[in-house]
Amino acid sequence: MRNGTDDRPPRLRRREFMGLLAGAGAAVAGMPRRPLRAWSRVAAQADSRIEILLDESIATIAPEVYGHFVEHLGGVIYDGVWVGEDSPVANIGGIRRALVEALKPIGPAVMRWPGGCFADAYDWRDGVGPQERRPRRTNTWENDRGIRDLGTIPQRFEPNAFGTNEFLRFCRLIGAQPYLAANVRTLPAQVFHEWVEYCNSPAGSTTWSGVRAAGGDPDPFGVRYWGVGNESWGCGGNFTPEEYAGEFRRFSTWAVPTYGAELSFIGAGPSGGDVDWTRRFFRALRERNAVGSMWGWALHHYCSAGGEAVAYTDVDWYDLLASADRMESLITDHWQVMREVDREHRVKLVVDEWGAWHKMTTNVAPAHLFGQQSTIRDALVAGLTLDTFNRHADKVAMANLAQLINCLHSLFLADGDRFVLTPTYHVFAMYAAHQGGQAVRTVVSAPGVHWTGERDAPRSLWGLNGSSSLTGRRLTLTVTNSSLTAPRETEIAVRGGTLRSVVATTLAATDVHAVNTFEQPNRIVSVTKNVAASGRVLAYTFPAASVTKLEITLGG
Ligand code: AHR
Repeated sequence: MRNGTDDRPPRLRRREFMGLLAGAGAAVAGMPRRPLRAWSRVAAQADSRIEILLDESIATIAPEVYGHFVEHLGGVIYDGVWVGEDSPVANIGGIRRALVEALKPIGPAVMRWPGGCFADAYDWRDGVGPQERRPRRTNTWENDRGIRDLGTIPQRFEPNAFGTNEFLRFCRLIGAQPYLAANVRTLPAQVFHEWVEYCNSPAGSTTWSGVRAAGGDPDPFGVRYWGVGNESWGCGGNFTPEEYAGEFRRFSTWAVPTYGAELSFIGAGPSGGDVDWTRRFFRALRERNAVGSMWGWALHHYCSAGGEAVAYTDVDWYDLLASADRMESLITDHWQVMREVDREHRVKLVVDEWGAWHKMTTNVAPAHLFGQQSTIRDALVAGLTLDTFNRHADKVAMANLAQLINCLHSLFLADGDRFVLTPTYHVFAMYAAHQGGQAVRTVVSAPGVHWTGERDAPRSLWGLNGSSSLTGRRLTLTVTNSSLTAPRETEIAVRGGTLRSVVATTLAATDVHAVNTFEQPNRIVSVTKNVAASGRVLAYTFPAASVTKLEITLGG
């Protein structure tokens, strides 16, 4: 077994493959409820198979699963989203025009703001009213040396130029629903209630609606998603689960004014695998008879590995993908624990921070705290994570990649008037076809990848994985190939439908360390081609280290 090599058994004979599907070792993204019937062999050399079971529906994929996150952190807001109306950078009312135009086609269903840890000290009242009267405050991230050593910059001393109206206009421009995170650490519930009033009370009804109108937005914004804090176990207040349950209840009581909008409260859940936090919170909430007031339970998971964003070894490649793949068990573990109290699963999971977190050595500007470049490896993290959410469409109601621009696992990098799309952007463009689709069970069988991790520990991961969804007669299959070296010749069978046409879009890189830069923005872009197809089975080769979308039009 060599590091980063594939476990490449001789070509599978049919009987062996059926054994694998029965659970004898290959990656299986869902198990069929009945034995499989024989397929016609279309790819003599196939070592991998994917079966899509059209009649085994999981749930509708909430468009909000394809959500994003912007925080007043480093270059996300100032330089990223907000350039200001008087900026030489092309803008729409101060918002970077190139960003708006790039976001529209990928349908960002929801945008979380203003943090993150920033939200836990943010007073929304500072960011409303006339710009010239808005106060200057210390940003939470001032404590970070990456910002502190750079002098008096907006990233350190928050000018509040980008506040509630500006954020909600950004959401309108890109067609996203806003998701606002309230400050539970330093502000009382009353101030939160007034933020709801500011955003949602009808024109002319309240003093706050008047301030909103004076800021240029007479009509209510109708904000639905409200986060009750953020990382309450950490920067959000260092609460115990029991203490936070009390806070959650106070903030989300029935008496919060709705003004006709359906309000969906999201509890600030655990970091990664801390299921005990989930268990204790849910039990405490039950004791307070308040489980019914929660719509979503937030979970954060950042994957990481040795090396850096661009300079990494083969082992780092596999370690990062394996770290990202933890999302699967995080979802199922927390879901199981939530059920101990919420038997009907009324409360859904909201993965409102996820992504790859590398060492900060590749930020495109010094003030871009946590800024990092993005390679095809990050694109695979995005693809495999979105596939995981699709496979758990019955559990995950929203997810937000951290963070949109100039930060961790970003879709965009910008500096002044320079702007570039990362490989992760192209994954979101490909996967947009899943939004609102019906997730259907997808059984994947392929040789796994094996490598040697820290302290010579043998490690392994599936070779291929993916998800499928159905929208009318359009079947979307997305697949990641985790192997650095092995293309996977694959038979794809659609049970319950016939193939009329197939269009393949592939994101791959000849150099897995390549990045898109301001000077060379198109080094990693997706490529689309038609694939000949008929009958029920398709032969397709997934390139090594790639993300692929097959858009299959089904016959009648
Ligand atoms: O996304 C960066 C930070 O990571 C967020 O502010 C915080 O919520 C998390 O710890």
